[in-house]
Amino acid sequence: MRIALGADHGGFELKGLLHRFLEREGHTIVNVGVDAPDPVDYPDYTRKVADSVLRGQAERGIMVCGSGVGACMAANKIPGIRAGLCHDTYSAHQGVEHDDINVLCLGGRIIGSELACELVRAFLAARFSDAERHIRRRDKVTALEKESREKRP
Ligand code: RB5
Repeated sequence: MRIALGADHGGFELKGLLHRFLEREGHTIVNVGVDAPDPVDYPDYTRKVADSVLRGQAERGIMVCGSGVGACMAANKIPGIRAGLCHDTYSAHQGVEHDDINVLCLGGRIIGSELACELVRAFLAARFSDAERHIRRRDKVTALEKESREKRP
């Protein structure tokens, strides 16, 4: 699978590890940076991951910041992106199966390397369910997004 991979300085180290892991697993990486440990702003790299997914350059995205919180918050502001901060394997696959997340956010200062690899593996192996209730709920989330852009001040 083609994966957009990004991080800020808080996720820089884990991003490097995940890059190597993903290549070993046979995936193709679209590396959007950051490529040095100096401080940067997580929304800038979250945007790059999101753009890559939305333009079809990558099928899914992975964004690592210090906690995963900022990245997840920023990603979910971008129409078409459904991001989940998943630090347990159940959420990492169920987030795709039920909620159709297309970006996984991780906290590089929170989780260890082995768990990170398991989370990524679970996320990438999962497929969105075709159950009507999941499609309906996902579509309601999309409707909320549309409504917010059109109606709210
Ligand atoms: C950077 O210090 C840190 O604030 C950022 O990586 C992230 O944790 C935000 O949620």
